[in-house]
Amino acid sequence: MISSPDSPIPRNSPRVTIVGAGRVGSTLAQRIAEKNLADVVLLDIVAGMPQGLALDLMEARGIELHNRLIVGTNDYADTSASTIVVITAGLPRKPGMSRDDLLKTNAKIVVEAAAKAIAHSPQAIFIVVTNPLDVMTYLAWQATGLPRNRVMGMAGVLDSARFETFIALELGVLPADVKAIVLGSHGDLMVPLPRYAHVNGVPVTELLDAPTIERLLERTRNGGAEIVQLMQTGGAFFAPASATSVMVESILLNQSRLLPVAAYLQGEYGLADIVIGVPCRLGCGGIESVLELTLSDEERSALQTSAQAVRQNIDRAQEVLAGVNS
Ligand code: NAI
Ligand code: 2OP
Repeated sequence: MISSPDSPIPRNSPRVTIVGAGRVGSTLAQRIAEKNLADVVLLDIVAGMPQGLALDLMEARGIELHNRLIVGTNDYADTSASTIVVITAGLPRKPGMSRDDLLKTNAKIVVEAAAKAIAHSPQAIFIVVTNPLDVMTYLAWQATGLPRNRVMGMAGVLDSARFETFIALELGVLPADVKAIVLGSHGDLMVPLPRYAHVNGVPVTELLDAPTIERLLERTRNGGAEIVQLMQTGGAFFAPASATSVMVESILLNQSRLLPVAAYLQGEYGLADIVIGVPCRLGCGGIESVLELTLSDEERSALQTSAQAVRQNIDRAQEVLAGVNS
C-alpha cells in the first residue's frame, strides 16, 4: 500500500521502483504508467530531477487516461514495498571511455542501489538494465542475496526486437509478425539464433538468403553502437524502455511469457555461476523456469565464448569492489 502527497488515500496498487531517472528510467516510468501497470517511484541521485519528471508525468494522466501515481524521490525510504525494482542507474558508455572504466563506475553504483533497494522492499523482484548488463545483473544478485529467480537482466528482449525489426524492414512485413530470439551476453558476443526466427510460422531461412541474414545479424550485434554513433550524445532508450516494460508486465500480470532474459545459471547450457541471456518464462515469481534449447555445436560454442567474456568481467568487477587495482 502506498500513499502520496497527491493522493493521501492508501492504495492497493503494485509499485515499481526505477533507480536511475535518466533517459531509460524516465521513459520506462512513462511506459509503465501509460500501460496502466503500476504506480511508479522514480529515484535518482540528482536532487529535484526525479521529482520534476514525476510531476510532469502526473500532469499527463488526465490526457493519457490513467490514474497511476508517479513519485520522484532521492530517498530509498520512498521506494518501500515495491513489487519490482528496476535498476537503470549508472553511466552509459561515452566517447573515450573504456569498457573497464564503465565497469568500475557502474559496479559500485549498481551494488549500492541493489543493497539499498532490497532493504526497503525485501519481497521485490529485480530487473537490471545498467551496462555491462550481464555483469551488473550478477552483482545485483550478489548484493541482494535473493534467490536466482528474483534477479534478472534486460537485454535479450531488446536485442531480439532489433533483429525482428531488421527482418521486418528487409521483408516489408508487419514487425509484430516477426519473432526471433537472441541469447548470450549483451554486446558484440551476443548469440542470435536465426534458425528459430520466423514470420508467422514461416522460417526466416526460407525467406532470406544466408548473406542477407548474416548482414542483419551483424546489424543486430551492432545495434546499440549504431544508435550511439547516430545520436552522438547518448544511447538508445525508447526500445530499451519498451523491452523492460514487457518484462515488468509479464511479472505483474503473471503472463508467463517466454522471453530471453539474463539469468543466473546453475548448470543449464553447461554453464554455472554466471549470468547470461537464455529463454525464461516470466511470471509473478520472477523467472519461473529456464528453457534449455537444443543448440547446434556452433551455437553452443558461441554461447560458451560469450560466457567466458562475462566471467572475465565478473572477476574484474569483483576485484574492483574488493579494492584491488581499482
Ligand atoms: P542516463 O545517463 O540518461 O541515466 C542514468 C541515470 O542514473 C542518471 O539520471 C544519473 O543521475 C543516475 N544515477 C547515477 N548514479 C546513480 C546512483 N548512485 N543512484 C541513483 N541514480 C544514479 O543513462 P541511460 O541512457 O538512461 O542509461 C542507463 C544505463 O542503462 C546505462 O548503463 C546504459 O548503458 C544502460 N542501457 C542498457 C541497455 C540494455 O539493453 N541492457 C539499453 C540501454 C541502456
Ligand atoms: C544498447 O544496446 C547500449 O546497451 C545499450 O542500446
